[in-house]
Amino acid sequence: MPALVLLGAQWGDEGKGKATDLLGGSVDYVVRYQGGNNAGHTVVVGDQKYALHLLPSGILSPGCTPVIGNGVVVDPAVLLSELSGLNERGVDTSKLLISGNAHLITPYHQTLDKVTERFLGKRKIGTTGRGIGPAYADKINRVGIRVQDLFDESILRQKVEAALHDKNQVLIKIFNRRAISIDQVVEEYLAYAEQIKDYVADTTLLLNTALDEGKVVLLEGGQGTLLDVDHGTYPFVTSSNPTAGGACTGSGIGPTKINRVIGILKAYTTRVGAGPFPTELFDADGEALRRIGGERGVTTGRDRRCGWFDAVIARYATRVNGLTDFFLTKLDVLTGWEQIPVCVAYEIDGKRVEELPFSQTDFHHAKPVYETLPGWSEDISKAKTFSDLPKNAQAYVKALEEMSGAPISAIGVGPGRTETIEINSFL
Ligand code: GDP
Ligand code: IMO
Ligand code: MG
Repeated sequence: MPALVLLGAQWGDEGKGKATDLLGGSVDYVVRYQGGNNAGHTVVVGDQKYALHLLPSGILSPGCTPVIGNGVVVDPAVLLSELSGLNERGVDTSKLLISGNAHLITPYHQTLDKVTERFLGKRKIGTTGRGIGPAYADKINRVGIRVQDLFDESILRQKVEAALHDKNQVLIKIFNRRAISIDQVVEEYLAYAEQIKDYVADTTLLLNTALDEGKVVLLEGGQGTLLDVDHGTYPFVTSSNPTAGGACTGSGIGPTKINRVIGILKAYTTRVGAGPFPTELFDADGEALRRIGGERGVTTGRDRRCGWFDAVIARYATRVNGLTDFFLTKLDVLTGWEQIPVCVAYEIDGKRVEELPFSQTDFHHAKPVYETLPGWSEDISKAKTFSDLPKNAQAYVKALEEMSGAPISAIGVGPGRTETIEINSFL
């Protein structure tokens, strides 16, 4: 059985954590391939609720090895506190593996993230302030610090010096901030080295060997397709590639080893932070989706912007990821609406457009063209099979499937592992 990818098909928070956790019991490895602790993945196991940021959601499945791939940016302080938080709750985290090639987030990345946002004012991205963008910028600029650098004090010092050479000038002269002490950063990061050394491994070699032996590897994305730095609503995006290609570069697994790409798709749409969002609602329906769906950010506590389902986005996600399946989540949240509008196309400057426009200006002007589907009022949270759903809920799912361009293989009807209707097996 080759590898499979699980990723967000919208703007994040689609329910990736729950979906990964659900599959975690049947796979051998779960690998995070990009992003960092900007992610907030909620997993509900029985009466226990876990909020994971950096750790792969597979960490909660005892038989599975969680892996932080080379494409991730790691804040070691967050890593250690997340691990100890889980250990205190009785979760065994000893199997975790971390790629030596993953890059580190340092205090200066967080400072730069925050001051840059402040400087942008009204034009800000609304980042999570976790230092994600500046850490990826350093990686691409070849002045990043990798996990493996922690184990050679002289290299670590040289790299911190090189990175801070310009940054301290920028912090002092442009942002009127204090310089960051090289000694302090080196000292802090050397202390982390001791604590994480047992987790560090050549994860690419290990994962490819596991695949050769017939093991199952699940590649778990953070964020979502429309937050992808290449394929998303740039510049209102994160600084990595949550799309399917990122799963290869961020793990060192070649595309020929991947046979399934599952898009996690919410039955409506949400977004956190700034940027265009054609189906956004500013009325009582938007408020109701937020309240019923519990749409508040797991990482920053910000209210999520809410809107109706957008089939143009879903089709786009199918295309840029080569999706083989969808996992439709939070269908239960829509229970109680008499009519449910679904965006089937956009109107841009008086013209009907079926596909996501490539021009940012056009996308900012896109107005949703809605079709209205009949709703249902029955409680669906106990539904176990597709036929348990009320006829109108079945028709809603089928309509979304047709518009989105890939089969819906599972449906979430509640946050718990068991509150899922499995239509086609993913494995
Ligand atoms: P992620 O970032 O993609 O992992 O998603 P988040 O965890 O940030 O947000 C999804 C939220 O929806 C979490 O609170 C989940 O517990 C919850 N959730 C996931 N699937 C379902 C579902 O099918 N129904 C309901 N009601 N909640 C769900
Ligand atoms: P999960 O994995 C939703 C958004 C931020 C901001 C933009 C850039 O839980 O789905 P960054 O800090 O990454 O530089 O912020 O991306 N963002 C997310 N939105 N879910 C996430 O993760 C997100 N991670 C980043 O709100 O708009
Ligand atoms: Mg989230």
